Amino acid sequence: MSKPVEVWKASAPSNIALIKYMGKSQSENNRPANASLSYTLDHLLTEVEISRREDLDQDVWAPLDLPDFYELRLSAEGEKKFIDFFRFLKATFSVDGFYEIRSANNFPSDCGIASSASSFAALTLAAYQLALDVSAQKETVESLGLEDLSKISRKGSGSACRSLFRPWALWESEGARSLELPYGHLHHLVVLASDQVKSVSSREAHQRIPSSLLFNGRIERAELRLKSLLSSLNSQDWKSSFEFCWSEFWDMHALFETSSPAFGYMNSESLKVLSKIRSSWQSEGDGPLVTMDAGPNVHLLYRMDQKSLAVKHWNEFALEGIKILASPSLDRDS
Ligand code: PMV
Repeated sequence: MSKPVEVWKASAPSNIALIKYMGKSQSENNRPANASLSYTLDHLLTEVEISRREDLDQDVWAPLDLPDFYELRLSAEGEKKFIDFFRFLKATFSVDGFYEIRSANNFPSDCGIASSASSFAALTLAAYQLALDVSAQKETVESLGLEDLSKISRKGSGSACRSLFRPWALWESEGARSLELPYGHLHHLVVLASDQVKSVSSREAHQRIPSSLLFNGRIERAELRLKSLLSSLNSQDWKSSFEFCWSEFWDMHALFETSSPAFGYMNSESLKVLSKIRSSWQSEGDGPLVTMDAGPNVHLLYRMDQKSLAVKHWNEFALEGIKILASPSLDRDS
């Protein structure tokens, strides 16, 4: 009888930054140039499964087939980055042998929905499960807490360190942690202006933006905006919170467009959506928080009492043929 294959599994959510991690103070360990704040997107998940394979002489990656998940295709560079990080995790957790890593996302990858955050966080958690069983240093592994695992995941992809915390995560230079703010639950829509893989990776974006003249003062602006945003969220001043988030993502996208060489992610659909949401704020004096990652897609966060507004926007976008990913708290038929 053949031995059953041992499998270690974990999943992790994506997160969307309202104050962005863009630019590094130390590239090797992904130390951020400035502190960042994110909201964890519990419904957008990466699942990772690791299985031991006696027949392998190196670690390999393959897509994981799960119902309702997207078929994941990694570029050669993306696959290498993932496997290299798994090797680093094995060394960190004192794990020997070769493994097959399989992963899938329940949302499109590499297009500005922070799939690297959920992927590297899930890989860290799955490797930790593996290490709890097979590590040569089990006691050390068992003593690791969430903050340690977050610091480890940061080395794969900086934004991954925020995905281990909820509902909000604050990442300051020393590490990320959970943050409680008055808005613990929000409705979320991602307007899919494109689900094509982006041509400039966020790794490349981090490297290019210091060449922008606008990078002068960026760290101070981001830190000041973080303070202002935390204060407006804490005092439940939603409109000011919207304004800080709005200027923050434009600040990041302006850095992209003024780098040398310049690059950008917004397309005509993104601009159409932004203009519609801005008009809605102007006419109604209320609306969602808006942000964009390094991609063309627009993230909208609504307070719980704004459900009908979120559904109204969703219906309007759908009528124009624009695809939406919505949190399960929203239902178009309601
Ligand atoms: O974690 P990285 O290296 O993929 O960088 C993520 C950068 C942004 O997503 C653009 C912003 C952020 O804070 O998540």
